[in-house]
Amino acid sequence: MTTLHDDIDHVLVTGEQLQAKVAELGAAISRDYAGKDLLLVSILKGGVVFMADLMRAVTIPCAIDFMVVSSYGGANTETTGLVKIIKDLDADLTGRHVLLVEDILDTGVTLSNLVPMLKLRNPSSVKLCTILSKPSRRKADIEPDYLGFEVPDEFVVGYGLDYDEKYRNLPYVGVLKPEIYNH
Ligand code: IMP
Ligand code: MG
Repeated sequence: MTTLHDDIDHVLVTGEQLQAKVAELGAAISRDYAGKDLLLVSILKGGVVFMADLMRAVTIPCAIDFMVVSSYGGANTETTGLVKIIKDLDADLTGRHVLLVEDILDTGVTLSNLVPMLKLRNPSSVKLCTILSKPSRRKADIEPDYLGFEVPDEFVVGYGLDYDEKYRNLPYVGVLKPEIYNH
C-alpha cells in the first residue's frame, strides 16, 4: 500500500523535534502572557495542526478563534500578493492580547497585510507565532515574535502545510519528491 510518506523526498523537521519545540513555545507564551487576556488566532487551514498542539502546551487561560484569508490558490506555489478576509473572527479584539498562530512565515505578504487590519480593532497587542520561517523569501518587513524552525527556500509540506490541499496530515515537515509537481 502506498502512503503519503512515499511522496516525501526528505524530512526537514521530525515529529519529535516539532513536539519538543511546541512544548518550549507553550511554556514561553504561558510565562509572557500570565495574567493577560490571551486570544490565540489561527489562520485556516495551514495553522490548524500547530494551533491544536500549541494550545495544549499553553498552561494559562486563553481563548481561541479562527480566520480564513486568501493567499495561495490551488497547486500554485507562488504567492498572489493579495490578502482578503474570507472568514472573519467571531471574537471582539478590544483590549485583548492577540497571538496569531501560523504555519509558516514565507514572503510575509499575508501577515504584513493582516496585522494592521487587526490592529484597527483596538487589541492591547498583536504578536505572531509561527512554527516555520523561510527568511530568505521575505518581501515584507515582518518577523515572528515566537518561532519554531527556520527552513531553506524549498516548498515544504506536512504539519498543516499542503500541496494542492494534500499532505497537511503528515506529522513532520518534509519536501516532496520533484516528480509530484510534474503531473
Ligand atoms: P506568505 O504570505 O508568503 O508569508 O505565505 C502565506 C502562506 O503561504 C502560508 O501561511 C502558507 O499557507 C503558504 N506557504 C508558504 N510557503 C509554503 C510552503 O513551503 N509550503 C506550503 N505552503 C506554504
Ligand atoms: Mg497558511
